Amino acid sequence: MNNQNEFFVIKAKENGVNVIGLTRGSDTRFHHSEKLDKGEVMIAQFTEHTSAVKVRGKAIIQTSHGTMDTED
Ligand code: TRP
Repeated sequence: MNNQNEFFVIKAKENGVNVIGLTRGSDTRFHHSEKLDKGEVMIAQFTEHTSAVKVRGKAIIQTSHGTMDTED
């Protein structure tokens, strides 16, 4: 894939936001969970191992598709 150099940004708006990476391929499962506290920022990419990301908790998510908030 040629779009794996793109980054996305997640900024936590509360303590205990979880950024969960899901595996690429036919077996879709959680492989990593990163906990962010309020104000913490994670900058990440989609990779050979990660094809989807789930964000739990109040956060701002910035991607090449735009910026969105998880619901309050
Ligand atoms: N080792 C993981 C990978 O290379 C790290 C990772 C990349 C990740 N992007 C992520 C973990 C997004 C959680 C969410 O795929």
